[in-house]
Amino acid sequence: MKTFLKIVGGVVLVVLALVLGGVSYLSMRKPAQRPASAEKIESTPARLARGSYLVNHVSDCLGCHSDHIDGFAFPVKPGAEGQGGFVFDKKLGFPGVVAAQNITSDPETGLGKWTDGEILRAIREGVDRNGDALFPMMPYTHLRNLGDEDAKSIVVYLRTLKPVRNQVVAKRIDFPVNLFVKFAPQPLDGPVSAPDPHDSLKYGKYLTTIAGCYECHTPHDDKNGLIADKPFSGGWEMRGPWGRVLTANLTPHPDNYLGRATKAEFIGRFRAFASIDPLHPPVAAKGRNTVMPWLAFAQMTDNDLGAIYDYLKTVKPIANRVNSFPDAR
Ligand code: HEC
Ligand code: HEC
Repeated sequence: MKTFLKIVGGVVLVVLALVLGGVSYLSMRKPAQRPASAEKIESTPARLARGSYLVNHVSDCLGCHSDHIDGFAFPVKPGAEGQGGFVFDKKLGFPGVVAAQNITSDPETGLGKWTDGEILRAIREGVDRNGDALFPMMPYTHLRNLGDEDAKSIVVYLRTLKPVRNQVVAKRIDFPVNLFVKFAPQPLDGPVSAPDPHDSLKYGKYLTTIAGCYECHTPHDDKNGLIADKPFSGGWEMRGPWGRVLTANLTPHPDNYLGRATKAEFIGRFRAFASIDPLHPPVAAKGRNTVMPWLAFAQMTDNDLGAIYDYLKTVKPIANRVNSFPDAR
């Protein structure tokens, strides 16, 4: 018996040592990465315009990275563009706290001291200046598809945001998520090219990836992972100061909006929000505010909204009726 216990004890100790060794190895380990490129990105009028379009109206970077006006669809507060904003914390079911950082060019609290290559790498490859993992709430796993020219244009535009001194709350992620997050960043292994904007289906797919449609409109499991075999079928519940809102089903099933809407109706639905003055948004009815970036997307071009429509019409129709506003009266 004694020998038996000794053996069991020995095995337990070995297992414990392996686990502890694994944990301390992981806590020291840096995520997969490559050195940031040393390139200085040239600012041209074309890049500036393209970057502004992508940041403000497609990838909605400022939607997360700014403070908001508390009204319909939470417009970005003027003067607060990029100063840092959204805080994901325990109240939202997040395992710790992480804030969308200050991405203005303030040297102390923003990106002022980052090189162009470091910013480019953070956006698409998910590591910060020190090579530490960014939490994938920052959608780099999708933004890695940004073509090189689009990604550079974004950096050029970010450099023009008015510097705002604003220190966001420090990041703290609970064990063991703080270890798992290190597996999220993946370096790119070569140039990335965006599809031709005239190739409606490919370009539409590209836009649904870099504009977050796929991320928000695909259901998530209880670990916040995408349920990849139900793309665009909706039902992801988002909680926040607005209460609860569930993403809509965007598949072209006859029960859903996309199953019925014509292309002109689809484009028109977005365009209708362009008449809202972001400085004076209407007050949303109780339980009816939304995180769908309607105001940002209202300025997307007809070509881009049309390509998104064309692409969504080709995704697998999935039956799933979603009540987006369960707390509405
Ligand atoms: C859904 C919200 C969201 C969107 C959309 C978003 N970000 Fe982020 N971003 C975050 C969060 C949260 C972090 C912090 C992650 C962390 O610290 O681990 C972050 C981090 C960053 C960082 C690293 C900053 C630092 O100090 O470490 C950069 C750069 C950045 N984002 C740029 C962008 C750009 C450019 C876009 C648009 C193309 C964008 N983000 C879109 C939420 C978002
Ligand atoms: C931050 C999350 C988020 C992102 C990103 C997002 N959506 Fe939404 N979307 C929602 C939510 C939540 C709703 C339901 C509430 C509402 O109608 O405003 C919604 C509703 C919609 C509706 C209305 C559908 C219906 O059944 O009436 C359409 C159309 C839509 N989204 C299209 C898109 C497209 C296209 C994109 C990308 C260009 C996109 N969404 C990106 C969250 C998001």
